[in-house]
Amino acid sequence: MKNRIHNFSAGPATLPEEVLEEVKSELLDYNGIGSSIIEISHRDKVFKEVAINAEQSVKSLLSVPDTHEVIFMQGGATLQFSLIPMNFSHLGEVANFAEIGSWSAKAVKEASKICKLNVCTSSVENKFTFIEPLKNWNIKEESSLVHYCKNETIQGIRITEDPNFESYTFVDMSSCLFSENIDVSKYDFIYACAQKNFGPSGITLIIAKKELLVKSDPNLPNIMKYDAHANEESMLNTPNTFGWYVAGKMFDWYQANGGIEEMELQSTKKSNLLYDLIDGSDFYQNPVSKDQRSINNVVFTIHSSELETMFLNEASSEGLKYLKGHRTVGGMRASIYNPMKMDSVLALKEFMINFEKKYG
Ligand SMILES: Cc1ncc(COP(=O)(O)O)c(C=O)c1O
Repeated sequence: MKNRIHNFSAGPATLPEEVLEEVKSELLDYNGIGSSIIEISHRDKVFKEVAINAEQSVKSLLSVPDTHEVIFMQGGATLQFSLIPMNFSHLGEVANFAEIGSWSAKAVKEASKICKLNVCTSSVENKFTFIEPLKNWNIKEESSLVHYCKNETIQGIRITEDPNFESYTFVDMSSCLFSENIDVSKYDFIYACAQKNFGPSGITLIIAKKELLVKSDPNLPNIMKYDAHANEESMLNTPNTFGWYVAGKMFDWYQANGGIEEMELQSTKKSNLLYDLIDGSDFYQNPVSKDQRSINNVVFTIHSSELETMFLNEASSEGLKYLKGHRTVGGMRASIYNPMKMDSVLALKEFMINFEKKYG
């Protein structure tokens, strides 16, 4: 559609036009039922089919083994920062939390209110530009769990290694799930909010080991217990039916567009276009350790804040929107999740080249 912007928002983020068109076409009458999907009971067989299909698609896209359960929850990824220690910190004396970017730092803060914590690695001193290899982390024995974030959306840094810890491993994949191939069996608990790679905000996907879920703290209220959600097939109470439905459409879109391998290939290509430009110029900078750079969130700065403001204004007037870095770190950030088209990244690259020519 010609009046759609190049949308680099970090989340809620751009969605494929085909998906939005399909949602639009079904909004008044879903599949001939004379109602939209969001106006019927979540227990109705029409919605149940949508829900089950979405779950099956996650399993097939990510080759989820039978050992793991798929759960859809509300409350965003942030709720998980508290629910994880609430449910599982009783499994050991101390919980290991990595502090490797703004989101995992938030998780540290929340968990510290709930349980005894060991910050097993911290990149605060290097300003979140380098993450220690997992083998160097100071994991405490007798610990209940390890928690980290695989892709730090704000700093544009990621972990590519698979974990191999003795303790149950919980990983926030909010801004990378479905963008890279992962071996789900290596993780005990994966979670991701939807608003980057698979739909509107307000729904969170969890993929967790069944053997772990049954260890949820039995003393918690049901709504906070993971096993209660799993036992009720994510319908302990009224779920976010619209989010779940759009997520299902996104999963269909992934399947129709080459699956996760293709998403990883495209994300790598798109991010490399920008990193190559940044590295080849003295005008733009990216501080992140090269082999840890995110393929979904490309951050960059220019040496003067005046130029950065001009960059953002001029980019915006050319339809390149939402490039401002997170309010806590400044600079620029191009979020280029799976639905982001190559054409938009090329348009940004061309703009960056021209801007440097003008002011560099
Ligand atoms: C890596 C990461 N974790 C957690 C969150 C928080 O998600 P929510 O706003 O859905 O709670 C975000 C949101 O941007 C994120 O990028």
